[in-house]
Amino acid sequence: MRNATETDQPDPSTTTPENRTGAWAPDSWHGMTSPAAEQYTYADRAALARACARLAELPPLVTSWEIEALKSQIAQAQQGKRFILQGGDCAETLADCRPEPIANKLKILLQMSLVLIHGLRQPVTRVGRFAGQYAKPRSSSTEPGEHNGSTIDLPSYFGDLINRAAFTPESRAPDPELLVQGYQHAAMTLNFIRSLLDGGFADLQHPENWDLSFFHNADLSPKRKAQYERMSRTLADGLAFMQNLGEQTLEDSHRVDFYTSHEGLNLYYEESQTRTVPRRDGHYDLTTHLPWIGERTRQLDGPHIEFFRGVRNPVGVKVGPKTQPDDLIRLIDTLNPADEPGKLILIARMGAGKVADALPPLLERVQREQRTVLWMSDPMHGNGIKTDAGIKTRSFDDILIELEQTVDAHKRAGTTLGGVHFELTGEDVTECIGGAAGVGEHDLTRNYASPCDPRLNYQQSLELAFLLAGAMGRG
Ligand code: PEP
Ligand code: CO
Repeated sequence: MRNATETDQPDPSTTTPENRTGAWAPDSWHGMTSPAAEQYTYADRAALARACARLAELPPLVTSWEIEALKSQIAQAQQGKRFILQGGDCAETLADCRPEPIANKLKILLQMSLVLIHGLRQPVTRVGRFAGQYAKPRSSSTEPGEHNGSTIDLPSYFGDLINRAAFTPESRAPDPELLVQGYQHAAMTLNFIRSLLDGGFADLQHPENWDLSFFHNADLSPKRKAQYERMSRTLADGLAFMQNLGEQTLEDSHRVDFYTSHEGLNLYYEESQTRTVPRRDGHYDLTTHLPWIGERTRQLDGPHIEFFRGVRNPVGVKVGPKTQPDDLIRLIDTLNPADEPGKLILIARMGAGKVADALPPLLERVQREQRTVLWMSDPMHGNGIKTDAGIKTRSFDDILIELEQTVDAHKRAGTTLGGVHFELTGEDVTECIGGAAGVGEHDLTRNYASPCDPRLNYQQSLELAFLLAGAMGRG
């Protein structure tokens, strides 16, 4: 097993000492540059303009009142009264806009949320990485590959919103038409999710819909086995529990607490659906409830921070291990100058070997300066490794270690861990190593389906929810 794939890039937020003061508009990011934003360009500007104009006249994917409802739930989580569970694919693909993967993703997120509701004794807000998670930042703008018998360099694959995965010059050319297709597939995904939640999906509470067979793994320590069995027995009371919390049934609760999110990488897409709405101030990015800014695109003087500082949506920002406390405060003040509750989520993605050193100074500084943020943990993106065979994977143990150390750091700092952010799928994939279901390095090729980062499979995700509930001390 080789070392972590985490790059040694400098912390992106150190590029300018100034906070922004200029006027914001949905297009005020135009002309700004950042390394990630320059990675791909649209050759046909007229086609780009046509696609954006079309997107701008299509109906919104989400509404401002849903966005405001999520904001108030994030504000509750900031006060330690609610927990946010965010998860889904690293990259959705247009081809995966099919009923089974969508239903299975919903199922695993809902089941994990029930485990957490029970374990944390708190309401849980579910946020999918879906209905628009089609654009991916890459560490390099081009990549070598085989084409017509020779090795050539072509643009990297940036996700189905931008170009196509096949290694041909035509497929890899950024295509503005994909912006419209991405929107359409996001709309179809969301339509199916809303329908599923409208009827019948509450069946998930029935024990026969849970696959807990990983409990029976012979290698599971007796202590852990007992812990899982105890938790699963009491989970049967989950519905009654939610009723105690005032959330009635799953059917009633979905309307207020199931939300969409994606990385706001392609600003043409985001801008085209950003508008004012009647009887509310400001602009809403109506492609999603919760956009987030990736670790590679959060330069203070870059286009992504410029764009997202102006929208009324809650915004997430990834925070890596090189982040300096001063720079973090500048980032916070740029994205949330009014210190509005529910507005800003810091998604720490440090890595198991780094979190214990890197996170506490940030927690302490934000706490000392009394900024209102929601701290979440993404224990996936700092824990990428490559096998000797060159396969990208992550170890379940590293993910768990980062989570546990994050929980500890918050306990010590007296701050609140208000949510978690996972890459997962409801399918039986073999992309991450470990967990009680026992995926080994040799299993990785059996069902490795991610076009991007490795995801936790159904059993690994459910197990992690049990372990998280335990680690947070209330499970
Ligand atoms: C991601 O969430 O898929 C991602 C690329 O994360 P990060 O920006 O933290 O590397
Ligand atoms: Co990823």
